[in-house]
Amino acid sequence: MKNTTLTTSWGAPVGDNQNSMTAGSRGPTLLQDVHLLEKLAHFNRERVPERVVHAKGAGAHGYFEVTNDVSAYTKAAFLSEKGKRTPLFVRFSTVAGENGSADTVRDPRGFAVKFYTEEGNYDIVGNNTPVFFIRDAIKFPDFIHTQKRHPVTHLKNPDAVWDFWSLSPESLHQVTILMSDRGIPATLRHMHGFGSHTFKWVNAEGTGYWIKYHFKTEQGVKNLSPELAAQIAGENPDYHTEDLFNAIEAGDFPAWKLYVQIMPLEDADTYRFDPFDVTKVWSQKDYPLIEVGRMVLDRNPENYFAEVEQATFSPGTLVPGVEVSPDKMLQGRLFAYADAHRYRVGANHNALPINRPKCPVHHHQRDGQMRPDSNGGGSVYYEPNSFGGPAEAPQHKPAPYEVNGLADSTPYDENDHYTQAGDLYRLLSVEERARLVQNIARAMKPVTRDDIKQRQIEHFYKADPEYGTAVAEALGLPVPAAAK
Ligand code: HEM
Repeated sequence: MKNTTLTTSWGAPVGDNQNSMTAGSRGPTLLQDVHLLEKLAHFNRERVPERVVHAKGAGAHGYFEVTNDVSAYTKAAFLSEKGKRTPLFVRFSTVAGENGSADTVRDPRGFAVKFYTEEGNYDIVGNNTPVFFIRDAIKFPDFIHTQKRHPVTHLKNPDAVWDFWSLSPESLHQVTILMSDRGIPATLRHMHGFGSHTFKWVNAEGTGYWIKYHFKTEQGVKNLSPELAAQIAGENPDYHTEDLFNAIEAGDFPAWKLYVQIMPLEDADTYRFDPFDVTKVWSQKDYPLIEVGRMVLDRNPENYFAEVEQATFSPGTLVPGVEVSPDKMLQGRLFAYADAHRYRVGANHNALPINRPKCPVHHHQRDGQMRPDSNGGGSVYYEPNSFGGPAEAPQHKPAPYEVNGLADSTPYDENDHYTQAGDLYRLLSVEERARLVQNIARAMKPVTRDDIKQRQIEHFYKADPEYGTAVAEALGLPVPAAAK
């Protein structure tokens, strides 16, 4: 293979890339060695801020194929007919650790999918769990502070983790999932994915449906024991990243079936709990899974930074036929992601190849730092105009939605944090329950204050007396009399 000539970033051939230019063989380095200056300066700027959460991740390209006609429920063009294929990009991630942190930790996994549809990009930015720890966006920064490092020691802080959870009992369902076997997936291929929130699908007649997304792994669910996970974390912190890359490289393409639960809009008023509360799952007896299609990952990124690090997913990246719900977490996320993208990648992040829609774009955004495309050329750059510029299309407005009530800081009106967490506990086998309790005890042992542990035990007890008793005994603490 013939070498090409090394050039500077401005394209000029480089004469010497091994020796700085100096005044004589022992003299100081010359400021006029602009190749050296450029090399050092660009190196200093190689990092962009890592994602404030979900910093460690792995990505892959693939496609989505519709396997069932769901056009009665949504007018989304990419779901319009059986057999239709749409290219996509997926990024899986852990939540709390930094970009270099170990893959096999106990943590939810991010499950973010970008569909490049003919009507624009559509992102499902979900997790491998159907619920979340909190249900109001206003609590998210505080929650994440407890998952990150202590401001003095720079260590993870179990006191903060369990203090927050025990004072936020809505977390109990997700804590139970996290501490169960599913808290450490064997690989990124062996886990399900969920949109978690309630979204709205709207069909061509304008009829809306509340929906929830479920991606079911075709590889089967497999998990790691905490002992093996700890060993792997030490030996190969990038184990999941490597597994995904190697599987795809070997032609062993991972796949997921996508299903939806569909709830008629009016059911939301009478369902036995608030269907927009992201700490709850909808019963599949009430709303069975309906097949939509199949997602296959068949191509690795060619460049990690360009594609995986610069990928920007947002729950607000929507296409006609998919709308949001009043879920208070989702509403907050509609601001948080695009704001993070402007900060982390830049105002023109949607013009980068990995984020650029694969359909034509015609908008009036111009200029800004790092504009990588033709910036609209000489096309019309404002509206209204008399020059035939791109114009709005009212048929694509979101479906109107009636709201009423007082503007107020209002809590969810329903506080049963225990039934679904208890149901999940009761679904587990005797062995699974024992491992759940062991995992909790291991995680709670380092908490320095018994009152925090005791408060959390009360929640487990309210979910199921056996659950609370087992955790209390594993920690050597009394079963709380009040809870009995
Ligand atoms: C990443 C905020 C809840 C899934 C992020 C990022 C922010 C954020 C700022 C980094 C984005 C970036 O730099 O590109 C929030 C807020 C939440 C919330 C404010 C609550 C109000 C959730 C929930 C889920 C979720 C409930 C799942 C159901 C993800 C995923 C990523 C992410 C998968 C990584 C996306 C990627 O791979 O680039 N979140 N988040 N988040 N979040 Fe959330």
